[in-house]
Amino acid sequence: MNILMIGSGGREHALIKKLLESPKCTKLYCAPGNGGISRDAETVNIGVMDKEAMVKFAKENAIDLAFVAPDDPLAAGMVDAFEKAGIRAFGPNANAAIIEASKVFSKNLMKKYNIPTAKYEVFDSADKAIEYVKAENTVPVVVKADGLALGKGVIIAQTIDEAVSAIKSIMEDKQFGDSGNNIVIEEFLTGPEVSVLAFTDGKCVKPMVSSKDHKRAYDNDEGLNTGGMGTISPNPYYTDEIDDVCMETIFKPTIEAMNKEGRPFKGCLYFGLMITPNGPKVIEYNARFGDPEAQVVLPRLKTDLVDICEAVIDEKLSEIDIEWYNGAAACVVMASGGYPVSYKKGIEMFGLDNNGQVDGAIVYHAGTKYENGKFYTNGGRVLGVTARAETLDEALNKAYAAVDKIKFEGAHFRHDIGKTK
Ligand code: AMP
Ligand code: GLY
Repeated sequence: MNILMIGSGGREHALIKKLLESPKCTKLYCAPGNGGISRDAETVNIGVMDKEAMVKFAKENAIDLAFVAPDDPLAAGMVDAFEKAGIRAFGPNANAAIIEASKVFSKNLMKKYNIPTAKYEVFDSADKAIEYVKAENTVPVVVKADGLALGKGVIIAQTIDEAVSAIKSIMEDKQFGDSGNNIVIEEFLTGPEVSVLAFTDGKCVKPMVSSKDHKRAYDNDEGLNTGGMGTISPNPYYTDEIDDVCMETIFKPTIEAMNKEGRPFKGCLYFGLMITPNGPKVIEYNARFGDPEAQVVLPRLKTDLVDICEAVIDEKLSEIDIEWYNGAAACVVMASGGYPVSYKKGIEMFGLDNNGQVDGAIVYHAGTKYENGKFYTNGGRVLGVTARAETLDEALNKAYAAVDKIKFEGAHFRHDIGKTK
């Protein structure tokens, strides 16, 4: 099969490495990809939002399967565009990807179908929102931009003043552009966070092994929120008992709710959960694999990913048995100095072999460039250094040993992945 991956980060590199294990995959392209991906697949210089060019490329190169990995092209209807051209594509249609692209939609969906989530109100004017937080006078309070905001559209305000300035910067100063035309103000929940990715064909839902993301930039969960500084799988807080509760109260009801709304979801649905004292609740949905969750979940997947993609597209997911490796996986993200605020690009990297790898680990490239046999940094999150082992401690030791071998000026990573709540 000729396969086209759409995206350019560590998640896409993890998907690519897994697809390459399939005997069905004969030719793999990635648009636009990155330096590390270029060592594993043929990279194609097409932007992730360019539907027309993507479909044209897929037709000209007899693509049998297109895999749309990032949120923006999913929300913009990239899968719809492929389907219209008769090309098989993995990922939800735009009308289902809205479960991530609009928090107003997802919150209203959960309320309508009794799916446990934080209490909330929706506002389309800053004045009304400010009036509400002042009247409620409860902190912390969570302020969320409705639309996609690179994972930065959520502010946990510790004071009413902070909530007011968050509302103003989102709704009046348009910090996240049109994503802030509406906002959700919600109750602050507490408890460990768990990420559960699930394959679904709209009929059945098959959760993958659980994982845990470390979102803050610095050790001890200090500093700004990032796209994710590291992950582990499984998540130690996600017991079999909680899994059963989630299946009955969250996973199945969400799939059914989307069907009832006439928006069947096919692809990978990401449940961002919080295990609160009152049981598991949904913090957010994503319409795609998480990044860097994919980097620890996919190395544990035993079953051929191409077979799973086909089963999802053909709505035959119930017919296939998905197997996982026992043990654990850990991913440590190496980022550019200054990330997530401002950082330099184009810094030469040392310690990687010609394929961008080091012994004892799998290095997924997120923001790198490859030129004349050398790798250079090319983004905020640069690498996801990952290891799989019998135990979490072993996986962490292997991943950190590999991190020690990789050098670039300003390199920044957390030293406590897998150690914090
Ligand atoms: P999101 O982009 O919706 O995943 O939110 C980013 C992060 O903000 C989450 O991973 C949580 O750590 C935190 N968060 C979001 N909503 C809440 C909430 N209602 N209560 C507590 N923390 C939250
Ligand atoms: N790691 C969280 C996300 O992919 O949104």
